[in-house]
Amino acid sequence: MGKPKYQDILDRLVGIGLLLASEKNLHKLLEKIVEEEMNFTNAEGGSLYIRRGKYLIFMVFRNRILENKLPRDTILKRIKKSKFEINEKSIAGACVKRGEIISIRDMSRVEELGFSYDRSIDRELGYETKSLLAIPLKSPEGEIIGVLQLINLPQESFTEEGLRLVRATAAQAAISLSNGLLLDELKKAQLDTIYRLAKVAEFKDRETGDHIKRMSRVSMYIAETLKHDPDFSELILYASPMHDIGKVAIPDHILLKPAKLTEEEFEIMKTHTTIGGEILENADTELLKVARVIALYHHEKFDGTGYPEGLKGENIPTEARIVAVADVFDALVSKRPYKAPWPPDEALKYIVSQKGKHFDPEVVKAFVDSYEKIIDLYEHSDIRS
Ligand SMILES: [Fe+2]
Ligand SMILES: [Fe+2]
Repeated sequence: MGKPKYQDILDRLVGIGLLLASEKNLHKLLEKIVEEEMNFTNAEGGSLYIRRGKYLIFMVFRNRILENKLPRDTILKRIKKSKFEINEKSIAGACVKRGEIISIRDMSRVEELGFSYDRSIDRELGYETKSLLAIPLKSPEGEIIGVLQLINLPQESFTEEGLRLVRATAAQAAISLSNGLLLDELKKAQLDTIYRLAKVAEFKDRETGDHIKRMSRVSMYIAETLKHDPDFSELILYASPMHDIGKVAIPDHILLKPAKLTEEEFEIMKTHTTIGGEILENADTELLKVARVIALYHHEKFDGTGYPEGLKGENIPTEARIVAVADVFDALVSKRPYKAPWPPDEALKYIVSQKGKHFDPEVVKAFVDSYEKIIDLYEHSDIRS
């Protein structure tokens, strides 16, 4: 890393702090932590583990030399060890146990230091791990929440000054990580609540099986195929289960009627969209805002013949146009009291036939393009939320 001036170092430290603090997505945050630490120390590679009780969970692996040589997937497939117990045998485990940096200038002597080290990965990937730093990441409360490993670093990283800098940047990273983990937990709790709320409507409707799980997944696939950014696709995944939340207010004799609804009954049925919109109104979170739009507009049709507002084409919000396809497809292939399940290919044909009528042609195209993935999902229907 040369000999950066004090001011430079300070600027970079603050920079890292700000950069990491601005990342809301946990996985991206972890990637950034590793990348920034690699940049800061000029390390060739880095990995990050999160602590969960007695275990360390592998989260991120980066290596600029290997990434130039091999596709990332090949590397990840080989190195992915999801979880291992914390003990003094592994370097990362010892780092947690001792609560301090473990620095190994010469990895050829790693066994002499009492660690077992798996060299098969290096061999297979044609790489040599020569030096290593394992840095404990401590929460502001002093608890070790993760381990950052950097490999093949310049010699000056192992000097007292070098280690001091590594410690300082790791402290920044640890604060962001601690916040990131808390935020992630909150997000999970929020999603769990939302899912349960969505289930209330599903139960009342006696929808069979895992309608909301499947249609939300399919909605996400479509969004991904349409090249929406991953955050938006994830929002759709979590917001779409609430599309029929308004059904909680529809009387059972209408909702559960096994025969065709009268015109009057259908008018009442339609209000599940506006009621859903009202339930989700005035929310502050992005998630509930998207959920409201979906609840309100998932029965609009591209040609303007849908409800509640008869919106047409692009005037229907994108997220609602996406969910409409996923919702109808799942309803068609599911068994209902009034109908047998359609074979998936028949349902696909129907969706395609409704291009430009019920559905947005672009969304239909994305649905067709993701069809293989969708079928795979239906064949493995024990999908988890
Ligand atoms: Fe609906
Ligand atoms: Fe539905």
